[in-house]
Parts: sequence; structure tokens; C-alpha cells
Amino acid sequence: MATPQPRKILVTSALPYANGPLHLGHMLEQIQTDIWVRFQKSRGNQCLYVCADDAHGTAIMLAAEKLGISPEEHITTIHKSHVQDSAKFLIEFDNFHSTHSDENRRWSEDIFSRLKQNGHIAAREITQAFDPQKQLFLSDRFIKGSCPRCKTADQYGDNCEACGATYSPLELIDPVSALSGAVPIEKASTHFFFKLPEFESMLRDWLDSGTLQSQVANKLREWLDAGLQEWDISRDAPYFGFEIPGEPGKYFYVWLDAPIGYIGSFQNYCDRSGLGFDEYWEQGHDTELYHFIGKDIVNFHGLFWPAMLHSAGLRAPTSVFVHGFLTVNGTKMSKSRGTFINAATYLDHLDAEYLRYYFAAKLSSSVDDIDLNLEDFVQRVNSDVVGKVVNIASRCAGFLRKGFDNQLTDNCSEPELLQAFLDSGEAIAQLFEAREFNKVIREIVILADRANQYIDEKKPWVLAKEEGREQEVHEACSTGINLFRVIMTYLKPVLPAMAEKAETFLNCSLDWTQLKGALEGHQINKFKPLLTRVEREQVDAMVNDSRESAPAGSSDNAKAAAVNDGDSAEIQFDDFAKVDLRVAEIVAADSVEGADKLLCLTLSLGSGQATRQVFAGIKAAYRPEDLVGRLTVVVANLAPRKMRFGISEGMVLAAGPGGEEIFLLQPDAGATPGMQVK
Ligand code: 2FM
Ligand code: ZN
Repeated sequence: MATPQPRKILVTSALPYANGPLHLGHMLEQIQTDIWVRFQKSRGNQCLYVCADDAHGTAIMLAAEKLGISPEEHITTIHKSHVQDSAKFLIEFDNFHSTHSDENRRWSEDIFSRLKQNGHIAAREITQAFDPQKQLFLSDRFIKGSCPRCKTADQYGDNCEACGATYSPLELIDPVSALSGAVPIEKASTHFFFKLPEFESMLRDWLDSGTLQSQVANKLREWLDAGLQEWDISRDAPYFGFEIPGEPGKYFYVWLDAPIGYIGSFQNYCDRSGLGFDEYWEQGHDTELYHFIGKDIVNFHGLFWPAMLHSAGLRAPTSVFVHGFLTVNGTKMSKSRGTFINAATYLDHLDAEYLRYYFAAKLSSSVDDIDLNLEDFVQRVNSDVVGKVVNIASRCAGFLRKGFDNQLTDNCSEPELLQAFLDSGEAIAQLFEAREFNKVIREIVILADRANQYIDEKKPWVLAKEEGREQEVHEACSTGINLFRVIMTYLKPVLPAMAEKAETFLNCSLDWTQLKGALEGHQINKFKPLLTRVEREQVDAMVNDSRESAPAGSSDNAKAAAVNDGDSAEIQFDDFAKVDLRVAEIVAADSVEGADKLLCLTLSLGSGQATRQVFAGIKAAYRPEDLVGRLTVVVANLAPRKMRFGISEGMVLAAGPGGEEIFLLQPDAGATPGMQVK
């Protein structure tokens, strides 16, 4: 049978914003990608992994301004930190470039001009909010005001956090620019749009081609069914990005040139290495292209990007591999809890390979979120890697050194056992290919258990004490080392540094393509510890450091991670369902003698219900007489609490920081006392 030709594969992971350090959410994606790429290489395929910093946009421009430096300086500093952190996590990029590069400018201009020539670009005037002081157009998140529906103050953008209403930011009551505090004005300007609706049938074919995860294809189909909109791909000056040729003061929107950054980075790689570019991006070649991304950016990669490539006459991605968000200890990453962990903070305390292993043990091909449970992390790494895998080598190495000069037997005494280990390689390879890393790890741990069980049965430590049984000790330990070699070969994409140490110890390279038969009559080297145990204290110190050094935070940097900036712990739906919220009428409100902050409210929860007395700390915000007759919302099933001034039988809901700024929740007209709030 002819050996199959090596595949030619180009792989990318999402370009991190050059606006803050990498955190463990980024690392989840880079580790997933890196394991897959290393696996492909280990199987003899030609696989290239390129990435870059996503360096454009208003947020980066404003961040640099705040720091008093140029955007170029800002992105250069961040680029260095990203390169450093990724390298320490053993992410083996073939190229890590920047979207702020000559290659990316050329490709962005070229692709835009192809789209334009093909009639896929429209120009039209739109009206947007404009900050007259800062002289810039304000995207939704830079405008705040009171909700037009429930009147809650300080709502950003186009939706209200209090009542969930969605609206145009221009509808906010008393809107102000979050940048300068100035009142925004409405201003018209011409924008360029990519005519996405023209690609509907091409996109449907692409989604039906079966290469995407089914959850992803279904989500994308929902968007198609809802109707595609033209996509606004330009921004007005001032903007940090590429000015559109022939259109002074107009810039490519960051999300236009970001995916083109994959091409720009690859172009840069080809120019340096001499590799042929066209084979990977022109249509009609049998190279493969995969984008690893998080589920938050599926629309860009699943709709806009393939449509742009199609219009530009370039190839479509072979597939887009989507992963879920990272949670820590079961909840969103939280700065106050110390679980918003930067890559560098992790590395200050822990070995990168612990996390590579743990993520591998959790990752699959699904888009479900991945939880880093810190307790389980310690337990799993120690038990699987140190306790099982490293243990095979360490328990055999001593006997081989003492009794046999580190020389393995001339013949493997357990060819069948070894063959079973070798035979499991194909199934493991298929799981790697399918990104079912959790199943890969499961298989490998089963092998490690079998190897340890074999050594337990042979008991070389007992045999070594008995006269004339040296050969048996030699055979058992040589077999153990051979089994270890197979296991480490399979684990190498996950634990490359540990595999390198194992190669030194085994005195051979762990090459999957050469993995046949046994090491026989082979000289190994002195065993040195391959990985030390994780200590809980190291993890605690990392969490402490994360708590202290948590940055003020930009939502841009929340990549691939679920971020929780608030303090409240997440609860399960069942917990929430226990809370009985009711509409209540305030039938009386009285000051409480001796209490500065409290009002005593008498609430009616509907006719036929006894009134209730509730103490509420709202005296600074409301005159009692103004409250009588108002409706509000009360937690009706709160156990009565004894307070200094009497029993409180529930709690009314209010928002705001306190003092005079406290606002009782009030249902819309139509609600009546006793109604359940859902
Ligand atoms: O969401 C993000 O973090 C973006 N910077 C990802 C860009 S990926 C690609 F399209 F460039
Ligand atoms: Zn509202």
C-alpha cells in the first residue's frame, strides 16, 4: 500500500486584541490549537500555525491616549507580552504577526477592491451619535443615559441592564458621551457596507457541507433564516486602522482587517520562509485551512468571512472549530474572586504543562463551556500525570540503573502487551484528529493504569531481593520503560516539555511515525524528575495575586472567557426559582423612631391577603407620604427577620448605590398587587 501523502494544513487561532495581557481564556484556545497542530506534525503532516495581534480599533486608540502614548507604542508593548506568554505556555506558532502590518494593509486593500469591483460594496449615509468635544463618532458602548423604558440611570449602549429593553442609543434619556461627558449630537456620514445578503445561498451551501459542528451550523442557519443585513465595514476618523484608499477620513472597521490578518500573517511567513502562498489561499488546491475560535465570534467567521473570501475569489476555510467559554470553579471568571487569571500570573506560580494537561482532559469537539475547577486541577494533574504516567518510569528506572547499567533487555519479554499499547495508537490518533482530547486523555490514562498494573503484578522490588531473579527484574522494568515510551509518544502533543525530558531519559526521540516494536538492548539515561506535583498553596497564591493585580478591565479583553465583573456569586436556576417575587402596594409608610435610614412600609399583596410590615433602608431617598399608593416588588417568601425596631416580613427591591440614590422598583401600569413577578 502506498504511504499517504502528508497533508498540508494551515491553522489559526483567534487574534487576541492588542489591548491587554493574555488570560486563561486566551490560553484555552491557544492550547487547544497548539495540541492539534503538534499532533498533526507528529503524524508527519505539514501543519503551520499562524496568529497575530488584532491591533486596530477605537478601544486601542483610546487606551493608548489614556496612557499618553501612541497606539503604535501601545500595540508594540502588548505584542511583546503576548509573544512571551504564549511561548511560556509552549504554544509553537510558526508566525505571530500583527494586523498593523504592511502585509495586512496590502491584503485588506486588495480584498476590499475585489469586493468593490464585484459590486459587493455599497456606500450610503447614516446618522450616528457624535461626541462634539472629542470629535468622534460614538459606538453604542460609549454612550450612556437613562433607559427610555424603565428610566434606570447609567445604562450603556443599546440595552438596559435593569429591565432588558433594547433600543437605539439615540433613544436614551439624557444621553452623554462616556468619553467626555458631552451631550452627543446626531451627525450624518457616509459608510461602506458589505452586501452580505447577496451571499445567502452560497452560505447555505457552506453550512450544509457538513464540515461545521452541528451546533454551530444550526446557530448560523438561525441567523440566515432571520435575514442577513448589510455589514458596515467602515469607520470615520479619528480611528486607529487602515485608511481606505481614495476615501480620506474613512477607515476599514477593525473586524474587516482582523480575519484578513490570518492572511497577512501567513504572507509574512511565506515571504520569510519561501513557502508558496497561493497553494493555501487560492481556490482549487488540496491544502486545508482551519480556524480555531470561541463561540462569541462565530458570526464573523461563519458568515462574513466566508462571504468575503468568496467574493474575493479566495478559498473557503475547510472548517471553523468552535470552543466554549472558560469558567473557573463553575462560574464566570471574576476579578473580585481572583479567578480572572492572567497568563503571566499563572506562570508566576505554576508550570504551563499542568494547564495544558488539564485543558486537554476537559476539551472536546463540542462548544460547551470548559470549567477549570482548581481543586480538580490539582487532584487530576497529581493523580494522572505524576501518580500514573511519571510513576511508570520512576519505579522502573532505579532497578535498571542499579542492576543493569541502564541497559534494556535484548528482547521484549511482553510483546503482546506492548503490541496492544502500539495498536491503541490509531484510535487515539482519530480522537486527536476529531479534537476529542478528553477521550484521548482517558485512553492514555487507561494505558498508564495497565502499565502500572503490570509492574504491580511483577513486583520488581520483591524480585530484586531474591536470589537468581535478576532476569525477571530486568524484563519487567524494560517492559515498563517500553510501555512508558509509547504512552509519552501519545502524550507529546499535550506535554511537549515533559516529552522532551522523557526523550533525554529514554535516549531516543518520541516520534509517532517511527513508533514500532520495542526498544531492545537499548541504553537509557539517568532518570530525572519529569514533572513535580502541584501544590494547593501554589494555586492559592495565584488566586491571591490575581485578586490583587486584577486590571480595571476592558471588555475587549474578555476573549473566550466568561467574565463576571460584579461581586455576586452565580446561582443555579433552582435557587432563583425559590424566590417568590410579588407586586405589592405600599398602603402606608412611616418613619421609624430612632432609625436614621429606615422607613416602615405596610404592604398589601392583594385582597384577601394580610398586610405585611417591611423595614426598608430608603428614608434618605423618599418622603413617606410620596410612597403611599405606589406599587413595588417584594420578596414575599423571605423568612421574617427580627430587627431592632420590629419584625420585617419580606424585602422590597430597589436599585442604586444607596443614600439618596436609591430607586424602588416599580412595575409598569397594569400590574396589580399580589401578581407574581416572573
Ligand atoms: O474577539 C476577539 O478577541 C478578536 N480580536 C478576534 C479576532 S479573530 C480574527 F478574525 F482576526
Ligand atoms: Zn430599562
